[in-house]
Amino acid sequence: MSMSPGSPKPPPSCAMVIFGANGDLTKRLVVPALYNLSKSDLLPPQFALVGVDHNNKTDQTWRSDLHDFLEQLSGSGGAKIEQAPWDKLGSAMSYLPGDFTDPATFQKLRRHLDELDAKQQLGGNVLFYFATADRFFGPLVDALAQADLLKSDKGWRRVVIEKPFGHDLESAKALNTRILKSLREDQVYRIDHFLGKETVQNIMALRFANGMFEPIWNRDRIDHVQITVAETLGIESRGKFYESTGALRDMVPNHLFQLVAMMAMEPPTSFDPDAVRAKKAEVFKAVHPLALTNAVRGQYGAGTMEGKPVRGYREEDNVAKDSFVETFVALRLSIDNWRWAGVPFYLRTGKRLAKRTTEIAIRFREAPYMLFRDTPVDELGANWLILQIQPDEGIRLRFNAKRPGPELALENVAMDFRYSDWFKQSPAVGYETLLYDCFTGDATLFQRADQVEAAWAAVEPVLDAWKQKPVEAFPNYAPGSAGPACADELLKRDGRAWRAIR
Ligand SMILES: NC(=O)c1ccc[n+]([C@@H]2O[C@H](COP(=O)([O-])OP(=O)(O)OC[C@H]3O[C@@H](n4cnc5c(N)ncnc54)[C@H](OP(=O)(O)O)[C@@H]3O)[C@@H](O)[C@H]2O)c1
Repeated sequence: MSMSPGSPKPPPSCAMVIFGANGDLTKRLVVPALYNLSKSDLLPPQFALVGVDHNNKTDQTWRSDLHDFLEQLSGSGGAKIEQAPWDKLGSAMSYLPGDFTDPATFQKLRRHLDELDAKQQLGGNVLFYFATADRFFGPLVDALAQADLLKSDKGWRRVVIEKPFGHDLESAKALNTRILKSLREDQVYRIDHFLGKETVQNIMALRFANGMFEPIWNRDRIDHVQITVAETLGIESRGKFYESTGALRDMVPNHLFQLVAMMAMEPPTSFDPDAVRAKKAEVFKAVHPLALTNAVRGQYGAGTMEGKPVRGYREEDNVAKDSFVETFVALRLSIDNWRWAGVPFYLRTGKRLAKRTTEIAIRFREAPYMLFRDTPVDELGANWLILQIQPDEGIRLRFNAKRPGPELALENVAMDFRYSDWFKQSPAVGYETLLYDCFTGDATLFQRADQVEAAWAAVEPVLDAWKQKPVEAFPNYAPGSAGPACADELLKRDGRAWRAIR
């Protein structure tokens, strides 16, 4: 993520190899993002896109399938496909059928990459993208190393690793150890697609490009922080995946912790990737390991949403009838450092909630109210700064104003900034910046090994305890609600309440 002024420049020439070329991620996010980069003239000048997958395809059928899929996506609301940017991307594509577990695949790939480099002058640069199930991450690094594909005399070799990066602290550590046997840390791009969102990246701009926030961004002025990632969807067709994952694993050590880090990190000395990542890692290391009393969970039952009946989690396909897997989690985090001591960070995320929303809400301490002693305090609304990540991306400030009229009556009002009102936005799937950064070698928005491990370490005590102790009362929240009552209790005992999800 370049923080330097001026228009971005095309990245250096390179090849990109997608493992899992026929998969959902490739079709829905990676290739559409490459197409959008092509539209903005931000593909490398010389570019080769190689798809590897065990499905029976050719260069031609892979290309035309992706084209048709892109057209379908565009048909559902986006802009129409433009011929010239598609031609630039399409002409770069070649498909290599092969199994990830077969060493011959990597020998073929090596020869293919050598040919492309000789023909197109790609400078020896290759980005390997693992758009595969996570069980392949370690073996793919081993196989690429064995085929001597992770080194080049003349260019760079980088690897993009999708989520999940491990399932707990032990497996994340084991994966880091395994991949770092063959790769240097600066070759590894652990991707978290939350960081592809403009509004998440804007948190850094908001905090560090505006002098007015720094003096109030601390325990003296901030009472607490609420981070909400609420979805209206259930688990869709991902029952098998969700049964071995749950909301805590799926969302917290990665997406929600990224939001915590953006919100809580100290100002870095520069926007150099390592300076930023070191500050984020410090936040994770300062998070108190979670006590069981500071974590609650929920599971949605059957009910109705927008007037339509919906199944409970236990009735979803590939889910056990007596499953104890959580579809909602709420946590109270403490960050043990000078800036945040005593300021709770409340996190919640869940499926089948009242509204799809992602926000960071910062509640400021109250003003001394002696001037308004004749006004019931309950009538004075709080000062909130709300960073709305999705949908309706924007920033809202809530403060008290005098209601017009002869009486001194106060009203809590809002000042709103909406991205869509101010900026002309081009359609994006959220992977554009992240891919551009991989091509240019900017790892600011990617997770370092120590960050990943520190995040898992913080949630590990709860993961362990929940495994031992199923909840008897599941399901415990209705579809379309704000989650289970125990989540309200978590804040109530501190004399606080969640912002409404609506
Ligand atoms: N999909 C998303 O929206 C999304 C979002 C964020 C992150 N991710 C992450 O992205 C990664 C990929 O997800 P996905 O949903 O795209 O998975 P996917 O649809 O299963 O794609 C994987 C592709 O790899 C192929 N494949 C499987 N085993 C193979 C083998 N041994 N050799 C060669 N090819 C093989 C699959 O073919 P067959 O299916 O024909 O076996 C499929 O085409 C995962 O780590 C996921 O967590 C996905």
